[in-house]
Amino acid sequence: LPSHFTLPSGAQIPSVALGVWKASPGEVGPAVETALKSGYRHIDGAWIYGNEAEVGAAIKKSGIPRDELWLTSKLWNTFHAPEDIEPALDESLAHLDTEYLDLYLVHWPIAFKRGTSNELDVELTANPYPTWAKLEELVDKGKIRNIGISNIKNLTANPLKHKPAVNQVELNYWNPQPELLQWSKENGLLLEAYSPLGSSDQVKETLRVPEVLAIAKELGITPAQVLISWHVQRGTIVLPKSVTPSRVVENLKVVALPDDLFKKLEEAATSHKPKRILNPSKGWKLDFDVFDENL
Ligand code: A2P
Repeated sequence: LPSHFTLPSGAQIPSVALGVWKASPGEVGPAVETALKSGYRHIDGAWIYGNEAEVGAAIKKSGIPRDELWLTSKLWNTFHAPEDIEPALDESLAHLDTEYLDLYLVHWPIAFKRGTSNELDVELTANPYPTWAKLEELVDKGKIRNIGISNIKNLTANPLKHKPAVNQVELNYWNPQPELLQWSKENGLLLEAYSPLGSSDQVKETLRVPEVLAIAKELGITPAQVLISWHVQRGTIVLPKSVTPSRVVENLKVVALPDDLFKKLEEAATSHKPKRILNPSKGWKLDFDVFDENL
């Protein structure tokens, strides 16, 4: 399986990252240390996770040269106004103790009014171009190497003038999004799989799926390794989260699934009714669904 994928900039992004969403204070630092010691070179974080300083300290402790690491962060919804973007980025850079990010994503296609936690800024949400233009400026300035998007189900519904390098979305056994994957491949947009094991609530269930168990048994690997390998084999970057040292180590060991087994798993994943696990629309009191294709 590919250890890296290539972005339009020519950058090589490691195919498996440590995801740090929901990694608590006191847990996230040791998890990052374990990950870097066991060979991870890609950490997927975000400003809103509130743990970037601990991630940064763990990276520093590892002594790994900056140019051997891939660091991703995400612009939070409150900072979409062009004048708010650079200060938000600077905060992430300071916490991570780095001069630049390898990848900076627009976390959601939703803008909140400055200083609010869920008051929709209708204008900035409807027109993402000023936000995107500012991000491009920051690429030119050298503070970000690649820019991308997240949680945008249908790009044609929310078009961006300049091509994003990746789209980070929920992808797992319950919500495998084969059409989006196909569309993204055809349009040269790499997908990144968040909640690749089904996120905390669903992981146990995912790891007990009969097809997954059967493949794990046949190949002598763990169910989590089957699923993480499946993601890479589908052509997506995969961002499993764990703060458990043995799991962190386990999750980096991806193997190519034989074609017939890969197909079996793909068929199983795509033959049931898809179920999205994460949808903050109600929590943000939106009067529409952020994943609605008809927006
Ligand atoms: P923990 O962090 O306590 O180790 P996802 O990446 O889909 O969001 O899933 C994250 C959840 O899956 C976390 O609750 C994490 O637990 C758990 N998890 C991560 N890797 C494994 C694994 N290899 N086996 C079992 N559970 C795992």
